[in-house]
Amino acid sequence: MATDSLLERRYRVLGRNSPLFYDKPLHLVRGEGVWLYDADGRRYLDAYNNVPHVGHCHPRVAAALSRQAAVLNIHTRYLDENVVAYAERLTSLFDAPLSMAMFCCTGSEANELALRIARDCSGGAGIISTAWAYHGNTEAVIQISSLFTPEDKRGPNVRTVPVMDPYRDRAGRSDEALATAYADDVKRAIDSFKAAGIRFAGLLFCTAFSSEGLPTVPAGFMAKAVEHVHAAGGYFIADEVQAGFGRLGTHMWGHQKLGAVPDIVTLGKPMGNGHPLAAVVARSDLVNGFTSRNMYFNTFGGNPVSAAVGSAVLDVIEEERLLENAVIVGNYTTTRLNKLGTSTCSSETYAAPVCSSQSSW
Ligand SMILES: Cc1ncc(COP(=O)(O)O)c(C=O)c1O
Repeated sequence: MATDSLLERRYRVLGRNSPLFYDKPLHLVRGEGVWLYDADGRRYLDAYNNVPHVGHCHPRVAAALSRQAAVLNIHTRYLDENVVAYAERLTSLFDAPLSMAMFCCTGSEANELALRIARDCSGGAGIISTAWAYHGNTEAVIQISSLFTPEDKRGPNVRTVPVMDPYRDRAGRSDEALATAYADDVKRAIDSFKAAGIRFAGLLFCTAFSSEGLPTVPAGFMAKAVEHVHAAGGYFIADEVQAGFGRLGTHMWGHQKLGAVPDIVTLGKPMGNGHPLAAVVARSDLVNGFTSRNMYFNTFGGNPVSAAVGSAVLDVIEEERLLENAVIVGNYTTTRLNKLGTSTCSSETYAAPVCSSQSSW
């Protein structure tokens, strides 16, 4: 009853089109680690929520947040030791030449800023993204998010390329042939900008192709496509909002698996474990070039409380060996899903994986 009445109140004040997960929306009241609890005390294993990267309400993250909130939280245009230290630590996790960070509050903002940098520094406007992609909700970013924006609403500066699905599209082709076919699509899109008199600015995609169906693309898949992008004077923007911070297990960043170093990276969701923290990490010449021509600041993005949270998230990733954990749980899940995909019915039981994370909280 309480949940039904809350739903009605939500409809009245937020509208019926404000999306909710599930046909029968969940009214959750508490989270702990991998578990969520609803208003009736029912416990759910959270295998979907894509934000609490190190577990719901991790005590270390909660303590860092409340500690810093009790000491100081200010507009980001003041000097703060913790913010600088966090930026140094974050950028140290990237391969050269990705050495500078710009903070914001959401993945949408990060992608918007990345588009601005790519367009400003290249002098172009044309952006290539993938079919079925989602990158956020700002005016510019929704245009490259073909999942929700039909072709006639994307404007002249956007082209999409399909992502290979090695399961359905392989058709006897090698990894090399698949990568070449994808790179050829990218090249065709670049050429079509040229034919339309539009200068090319860059290629932006989610490095896990999360909205595109999470296809298991071959390692090194992007290297050739990115060569075309650079040869045409554009930049490779890696959207790590979903894949970043070790979610793929084998690497800290999805692009490391795809065989190409980006010029610009965008970060969000897992970065603050639910706290609104996002960033652009990019080459110093791009950040310095862009900011010398454009004023950029973000009142809240990367403030001292956010920096404390982001730093605590990195501590937990390291101390609880969460990349290793992602490999173990990922392999277990993939094995079982593959089994389901090849048999209609199975009574076999599988032992649950032994995870690296030993926290008992
Ligand atoms: C790949 C990707 N990029 C960007 C975003 C946008 O992030 P936010 O909702 O924090 O603006 C999302 C959100 O789902 C996403 O999946």
